[in-house]
Amino acid sequence: MRKLRVGVLASGRGSNLQAIIDACSIGEAPAQVTVVVSDRAEAYALDRARQHGIPAVHIHPSYYGTKEEYEHRIVLEMREYGVELVCLAGYMRLVGGVLLDSFPDRIMNIHPALLPSFKGLHGQRQALEYGVKISGCTVHFVDGGMDTGPIIIQAAVPVLSGDSEEDLSSRILEQEHIIYPQAVKLFAEGRLRIDGKKVHVLDGSGQ
Ligand code: GRF
Repeated sequence: MRKLRVGVLASGRGSNLQAIIDACSIGEAPAQVTVVVSDRAEAYALDRARQHGIPAVHIHPSYYGTKEEYEHRIVLEMREYGVELVCLAGYMRLVGGVLLDSFPDRIMNIHPALLPSFKGLHGQRQALEYGVKISGCTVHFVDGGMDTGPIIIQAAVPVLSGDSEEDLSSRILEQEHIIYPQAVKLFAEGRLRIDGKKVHVLDGSGQ
């Protein structure tokens, strides 16, 4: 079966990258990660890629005069490896117009809260501070806003009394590692249809 070519953009430890690599390697998703790009040379995500024989590329944003030039460089790299879907996995920058225009409706992100609540940084801390009883994570397509794109899958977890930020984060992270590969699988199977703010998930027969 033909495999969807996925490029991952990551800034840090890369546990979601790992979950996607693992799902692809056991055939759970008809996809393969063909390149991992990071804005940080020390990102553990790059080591994970190398451990799996996946090209790992560091692109230093401050080598480029503008965000557009920096993103052009990322796009070149993604094209080089035939990327059809870009997955942001702990990528700590707002995606700009160059990437969005190069991969229209083909960029996904994972966020550690139930959007549209608690956008931006520290979604878990925001949830704890607000006092919600349920939080979770969201995989969504990326648009020009901060965590505002069409929602693909969400998973909920309880917020327990006495939870620290670490407790809640690790409970959410377990679910992230389940739903991100699921979203990649659905995309790879051609089962996601964007309709304005909504994403319809077609069943296996194309309905
Ligand atoms: C995750 O919590 C993800 O939701 C957020 O950044 C974190 C990345 O973790 N966007 P990792 O690098 O995938 O381990």
